Amino acid sequence: MSNLNTEKVLNVRHWTDRLFSFQTTRDPGFRFRSGEFVMIGIEVNGKPLLRAYSVASANYDDKLEFFSIKVQNGPLTSRLQHLAVGDSIVVGRKPTGTLVLDNLENGRNIYLLATGTGLAPFASLIRDPEIYNRFDKVVLVHGCREVAELSYGEALVEQLRNDEFLSEDAEKKLLYYPTVTREPFRNRGRITDLMQSGKLYSDLGLEPLSAAEDRVMICGSPEMLKDLKDMLLAQDFSEGNTGEPGQFVIEKAFVEK
Ligand code: A2P
Repeated sequence: MSNLNTEKVLNVRHWTDRLFSFQTTRDPGFRFRSGEFVMIGIEVNGKPLLRAYSVASANYDDKLEFFSIKVQNGPLTSRLQHLAVGDSIVVGRKPTGTLVLDNLENGRNIYLLATGTGLAPFASLIRDPEIYNRFDKVVLVHGCREVAELSYGEALVEQLRNDEFLSEDAEKKLLYYPTVTREPFRNRGRITDLMQSGKLYSDLGLEPLSAAEDRVMICGSPEMLKDLKDMLLAQDFSEGNTGEPGQFVIEKAFVEK
């Protein structure tokens, strides 16, 4: 198929019984901007079964990485969760999406707000040196129901803090704030509530959010997007789009039903 590349699975990691990530080869001609998504999938009875996935790997990495939920009856994820090293997947050739730095005006701090697998586009963005060149602080907030669901993000941040090229930026600029809603943890509560109460900012030692100064990227469930979008619009933030940079951008996280 001319609009799809075939890639080989290089490794698979299961983080919980509902979350896994995998890496594949990357066609040398495949280019994407940090934060974009692409159609990926497998062939079933000779036909491609595809879903939109954010690319979690860095745009300079020679591998591609994806972070996925497993849904037992999901047409694609019920199969993808059994991927093994050496298997093939197909990857579309036209990455796209709104969670890209080009869609944001310059500013002081950038907030990357994710729930669940909404973390994936930010995994790519926080590995991009450009984000540290453009912003003073990069605040990665990840909300999950349970502590175990944070593990992919925790490993990612740990890896960055030890990265040969990015450790200095990560040390100085990256603030990671995991939060859990349904179990005890050091940070608790929904992202929306932590922002509304101001606890997020006081815990991190930051000024409260301001449309004049700060930029926001959001990726999560439709309800989470709606609530956060309403909150930002009420604070006079303008939404950015391709060709029209703004003060925040949003995208739905992939969850197969
Ligand atoms: P909660 O446990 O209070 O529902 P989900 O798996 O349902 O997508 O949820 C992932 C995380 O996002 C959970 O911590 C959940 O909190 C939180 N969440 C769900 N809906 C919203 C929302 N509208 N705004 C902010 N956070 C939300």
